[in-house]
Amino acid sequence: MKFYIATDHAGFAYKSQIIDYITAKGHKIIDLGPDSTDRVDYPDFARKCAESVKDDEGSFGILICGTGIGMSLAANKVKGIRAALCHDAYTASMSRAHNDANILCFGERVIGMGVATSIIDAFIETEFEGGRHANRVEKIMNIERD
Ligand code: RB5
Repeated sequence: MKFYIATDHAGFAYKSQIIDYITAKGHKIIDLGPDSTDRVDYPDFARKCAESVKDDEGSFGILICGTGIGMSLAANKVKGIRAALCHDAYTASMSRAHNDANILCFGERVIGMGVATSIIDAFIETEFEGGRHANRVEKIMNIERD
């Protein structure tokens, strides 16, 4: 799988560990910043990641801020993006199986690194089920076409 990752200052501490974790699993991950713990605005990084995922068919994104909320709100404004805020492996797995999420969001101030890696594993290992869920996802995408 190919991932793009971005954070704000409140998610920065997890970024390099997650890049190492995903790389060690044999996936490709591109770091879209930031490069330091200096304060930044999460919408700028959410937009950068969401537009990268949108423009690179079949790719996925990971966005981390303090809670994951701001990142998910901002990323979902980009057409074609289904950003899911996940708190555990179950929600991460369901975000792929039922919602065909293409961006995973979580909060560094909310979950520990062990939960973060279990969320990533679940997101990577679960495929979209399609079927009745495909129709529902299509209805979500129709909202942005109206
Ligand atoms: C930054 O203080 C914080 O507001 C941000 O990381 C995020 O949690 C917003 O949703």
